[in-house]
Amino acid sequence: VDDVEDRQNKRRALETTSRDRSLDYPSKSASVKAVSFQQPSPLLTFSYTPARVLEFTDSALRYYVDPPLGADLKYGYERWIRWPEEKGRIDGLVRAVLKYKERLERHSQNGSAWLNDIGVVSWRGVMTKILTAPYEERDGWELNVMIVGSTLYFEEHLSDARLVQKNDIAPHHRQQTYYGYSFESWCTSSAPRIPDKLDGHPIGWGGDVDTNVQWCSVVKTKLGDTRMVIGGEVDCVRDTFTGQTSSFVELKTSLVIRGPQDELRFEKKLLKFYFQSFLLGVPEIVVGFRTPSGRMNTIQSFKTMEIPRLVRGKPHAWDPLLCLDWGHRFITFLKSIAVATDTDDVRGDSNNEEGKMADRAKTRVWRVKFLPRVGVSVSL
Ligand code: A3P
Ligand code: MG
Ligand code: MG
Repeated sequence: VDDVEDRQNKRRALETTSRDRSLDYPSKSASVKAVSFQQPSPLLTFSYTPARVLEFTDSALRYYVDPPLGADLKYGYERWIRWPEEKGRIDGLVRAVLKYKERLERHSQNGSAWLNDIGVVSWRGVMTKILTAPYEERDGWELNVMIVGSTLYFEEHLSDARLVQKNDIAPHHRQQTYYGYSFESWCTSSAPRIPDKLDGHPIGWGGDVDTNVQWCSVVKTKLGDTRMVIGGEVDCVRDTFTGQTSSFVELKTSLVIRGPQDELRFEKKLLKFYFQSFLLGVPEIVVGFRTPSGRMNTIQSFKTMEIPRLVRGKPHAWDPLLCLDWGHRFITFLKSIAVATDTDDVRGDSNNEEGKMADRAKTRVWRVKFLPRVGVSVSL
């Protein structure tokens, strides 16, 4: 009863926000419409340097190498250069989109028409949160959604308080987060197939962890009838980078599986692994299974496209089609609000053409709030 009341209260709180519109949480038993998802094709890549400067080079690109057996994931912890949690702004991705538009224009193509045809621009992490929302039972999220022309720009919204909270993590949690990054160092090298040999470090150590540095790929894809541009970090490539996504590799760590409970937990986690990689067209995920104290035990490579089959039919199974259908409805819902706003709400007070243009140019930002097991609400 408490739970139902709690949910009703939350829903009421959402509904009282001014100019609200809401979209209910999808029912797991509802029939799912198959929504198509186009194989992502790469537009460009870029790097963040140690000074966290975005440059249109592949300076941060790393190559996959097998990690040494029993690698110590605690290695180098005290030297970790940590990029603080930030507000997840979309600026870097917007710069990449503009860069691509300029490149088109340099080849005498119509960059504006191209951009106008894009329905959604988003970081991959945000799209993953949206698509996996039907199975999210714990963490809510908030987005800022901006509409420019007919393109929606999605950006995560973190309140100042939430940001402080995210940066103030318990030491053991910080240590565990480091395991994931140190696995990336053990699994990557500055050259294909040859582990780095760095002075004063064990063989195979790819260099001290600096979370400022990232290599990112921006891809174009299509969900149903909506063209999307999605950007995200790619951990490394296998052998060579030819400009395609086919050699991309995602690295993940997870606790060693000791019994059915662990297996179930891992298979639930695969939902996020799957969409994170699927959205950028990353075909391979290398998982390092580690002990609780941070020793690498085994590694296993998964083909991204085969992951849904591993969980199908199990009691805790998730269905990627339900996620895509939900994602499609989510985007359609936001588009309909945007169009309605364009014609009714934001006419502004001006009655001459110039004033009307200025009204239209005012940046409208929608706040989208997702509550697990409730749904999303939107307010201007
Ligand atoms: P693991 O994924 O191995 O746990 P990514 O896998 O997305 O490339 O991220 C690399 C590492 O960053 C993760 O390693 C994890 O340690 C940390 N990380 C990523 N997203 C996180 C989140 N939402 N909360 C805490 N740590 C996170
Ligand atoms: Mg990564
Ligand atoms: Mg990773």
